[in-house]
Amino acid sequence: MPRTPPEMFRIKVVEPIRLHPPEVRESKIKEAGYNVFRLSAEDVFIDLLTDSGTTAMSAKQWGGLMMGDESYAQCRNYFNLADSIRDVFGFEHFVPTHQGRAAENVLFSTICKPGDIVINNMHFDTTRANVEAQGAEARNLPAPELFDLESDHPFKGNMDVDKLRQTVEYVGAGHIPAIFVTITNNSGGGQPVSMANIRESSIVAREHKIPIFFDACRFAENAWFIKLREEGYADKSIQDIVTEMFSYVDGATMSAKKDGMVNIGGFLAVRDPKLFERVAQKLILVEGFPSYGGLAGRDLEAMAIGLREVLDEDYLSYRYHHTKFLADALQERGVPIMTPTGAHAVYVDAKRALPNIPREEFPGQAFTVEMYLRGGVRVVEIGSLMFAAPDPGTGEMKFPEMELVRLALPRRVYTISQLEFVADTAGEILEHADELGGYRIISAPKVLRHFTAQLEPCIGSCDS
Ligand SMILES: Cc1ncc(COP(=O)(O)O)c(C=O)c1O
Repeated sequence: MPRTPPEMFRIKVVEPIRLHPPEVRESKIKEAGYNVFRLSAEDVFIDLLTDSGTTAMSAKQWGGLMMGDESYAQCRNYFNLADSIRDVFGFEHFVPTHQGRAAENVLFSTICKPGDIVINNMHFDTTRANVEAQGAEARNLPAPELFDLESDHPFKGNMDVDKLRQTVEYVGAGHIPAIFVTITNNSGGGQPVSMANIRESSIVAREHKIPIFFDACRFAENAWFIKLREEGYADKSIQDIVTEMFSYVDGATMSAKKDGMVNIGGFLAVRDPKLFERVAQKLILVEGFPSYGGLAGRDLEAMAIGLREVLDEDYLSYRYHHTKFLADALQERGVPIMTPTGAHAVYVDAKRALPNIPREEFPGQAFTVEMYLRGGVRVVEIGSLMFAAPDPGTGEMKFPEMELVRLALPRRVYTISQLEFVADTAGEILEHADELGGYRIISAPKVLRHFTAQLEPCIGSCDS
């Protein structure tokens, strides 16, 4: 087992968890329609569903909660958050939101019109849904390296800048209200984006006077990878790297439930004061007064502290090595994963893990269900259940390029021995891969179906 540097924090509060016996897990997942989003959290042993909002806050953040000023307007915590956002990112104008998708909603409902195209290296599912809700198209332009799951390209999250240029020239700036760069690229395996790529994307955007934004959820993890992997950045501080990254963009949507190190919160920041006026008006309608934006004063304080804490290199080193430990442990057990590993999650390649299950029968979901059945571990499918959809022209089912299962790591929550248990559970699935079957959907909503769909096992054939 590779040596992992020790955590630079100690545990002050603990929360018991339990592992149900196999027959209870079997009935729980059946009752949940074989959809792990429908499981009660208390029935889960190790929860790797998401790194979002699942962070263990620091003593300083918990102390900050007691400093919450719950005045309706202009509470002191708003000003503390404004200081953090100015110091860390260099933005003067922002509105707090209760989470990332609210920032997306406020932005896209302000800047998009039907027929527009928003370009992104890869839209996260809520980002796509918020663009499409405006009648606009959410177009992904990921760099081709992303799809070679085993290559060791250091920045697989990059935008395809050539395609970006061609698209902008072909479509025309008037139909592109924004270009987005998602850092790190969550739906693309949590892969980072290089500084060079951010700079080049920004050049294209600025040449055509199109605003360029970050989807900045994991900005500090992205900065860590730039320091680790990109020439010329090894000796720079994380803050200096973040400052340079943000100098290339005109705004950002942020889910602070990731690198804001909080359980709830987000913001939308913009440089253009006129756009700020418009989004602040919209915010009042859907979130609240612009100094609290759907959050309590105490939440703003925890976010103000978290945004600074996440820049600590001891923390980021822990974060990287902790995730790498799980990745190495999985590989040692023969579980195929996307490499190199990002910071917030390890992605299993379900097409290779369960080659006998056809795409129509959701191999990623089969792997996900099996993780719960065998170890009470909750992970999430990022494949056909989440993304497959009929082609609007031909009606033919279009599958996403990749069939991934994400094992997302909450920040500062699980220990190395718990991660070993997770790797053992996944290893066991591989040993029984030939015996496993797929699933079919029995009910699903039209939008974001993976959250609530109900499935059942295909016994024999799903066609029957
Ligand atoms: C890249 C990315 N963008 C946006 C969001 C949406 O944020 P939230 O869940 O806070 O609404 C997420 C959440 O996981 C994300 O990973």
